Amino acid sequence: MTVLQAIDRYLQQTQPKHLEQLKELLRIPSVSADPAYSDAVSKAAGCVLDTLAAAGLKTELIETDGPPLVYAESPPVPGKPVALVYGHYDVQPPDPLDLWTTPPFEPTERDGNLFARGATDDKGQMLTHVNGVAAWQAAGQQLPVQVKFLIEGEEEVGSEQFEHYLARPEAAEKLAADVIVISDSSQYAKGQPAITYGLRGIAYFEVHFYGPKQDLHSGSFGGAVNNPAIALAKFLAQIVDDRGRIQLPGFYDDVQTLEESERQMWAKLNFSESTFSKQLGVEALLGEEGYSTLERRWARPTFDVHGLWSGYQGEGGKTIIPAKAGAKLSFRLVPNQCPKKVAQQLRQFVAEHTPPGIRIEVVDLHGGPGVVVNPHSPYIAAAQQAIASAFGKPAVLIREGGSIPVVANLVDKLGADVLLLGWGLDDDGAHSPNEKFCIADYFHGIRASSHLWHELSRMG
Ligand code: BES
Ligand code: MN
Ligand code: MN
Repeated sequence: MTVLQAIDRYLQQTQPKHLEQLKELLRIPSVSADPAYSDAVSKAAGCVLDTLAAAGLKTELIETDGPPLVYAESPPVPGKPVALVYGHYDVQPPDPLDLWTTPPFEPTERDGNLFARGATDDKGQMLTHVNGVAAWQAAGQQLPVQVKFLIEGEEEVGSEQFEHYLARPEAAEKLAADVIVISDSSQYAKGQPAITYGLRGIAYFEVHFYGPKQDLHSGSFGGAVNNPAIALAKFLAQIVDDRGRIQLPGFYDDVQTLEESERQMWAKLNFSESTFSKQLGVEALLGEEGYSTLERRWARPTFDVHGLWSGYQGEGGKTIIPAKAGAKLSFRLVPNQCPKKVAQQLRQFVAEHTPPGIRIEVVDLHGGPGVVVNPHSPYIAAAQQAIASAFGKPAVLIREGGSIPVVANLVDKLGADVLLLGWGLDDDGAHSPNEKFCIADYFHGIRASSHLWHELSRMG
């Protein structure tokens, strides 16, 4: 029996155990955005640490001014590549709660899926690698490459503490690796695994509009002052024009143009606009003129509003001119746009579009640049092998529209390649109610991970 056969056999037997382990982690409500959950965030770190220790790795909890970083490593294997697995144990807030069929922190199996906040993003995907490593130990085998883990607890709010850690002198040596492995994205479609070679960046803001010093009777004062809610609506509407072009000064200056070869490769992916709009429940798709839907989602910058508030939100009518209004908004960025530069561009746009009688405040929440890596690297070829044997189908090469803020920095700092091996699906409901992860894909991911270490060891 070969090593991989021994591992596969072990993985068959341990599926119930691996599923139970994921459920245990999913029961911990590690919401990083809300300080009310900070105990749970620490508890999740401990749970991940224990799981890594049980997989036979040397572990360490790295304290920060926020949630701790979980670090682990297997023994060095001289002459072989070193892999660093990055992932996150924090999750998005579960709201709106009333739309969940079963409670977000009570993992429940339905139709071959496991439903819970964090199931796909990123607890389930991250654990595939912990178990992919555990499999070698359990099968009585020495891991053929050194694998390190760095699992953080703040990815969903911009990874500030991890960025600080990366700036520490000891970080580069500790995390030194040839390839960074991340499973925190998606397959192309059900039954069609993918390797992602690019992610978009993000620049996230809040804007606050202030008008009169307090709410005013709109009968007595309407017609006399600027209404902050209307001013905000007009302001937001001016950020993007009818052709889907963002109007910040100089916004497109650094945008890397899309290669013709990429456009051709994606055109072959058989993307169905009608299936996609049905899946989303919209009558029509909308985006920047001159680009296909995949191109708009993966390789073009975009603007979105995530939250809006002003005035009276309760039952019935209330006739006021609100004293203030506000919005949460972000720009998705592509290489080579810089989030700091976009922040300056937004401030300049605000200065040029502040109407009379309104004061605007811009709060810079967080950001990270986009990333594109060489789709023809030998690491990608190794991952192809591992994925084909575990999923029974070769992966297609894609880019994705989401952001993992630290990736670009990590790649720069370590001078490493990156493998973005998404096991999720577009309809997993990440950040939404009824988030799920396909249980079969959880096991496929574990198997692909365990094979990946073998494939990497064959590279030299
Ligand atoms: N796992 C996602 C990133 C992702 C989503 C990659 C879809 C590929 C496809 C990650 O957890 C995430 O949600 N990131 C945030 C970053 C932000 C909060 C700084 C995002 O993309 O909105
Ligand atoms: Mn994620
Ligand atoms: Mn996320």
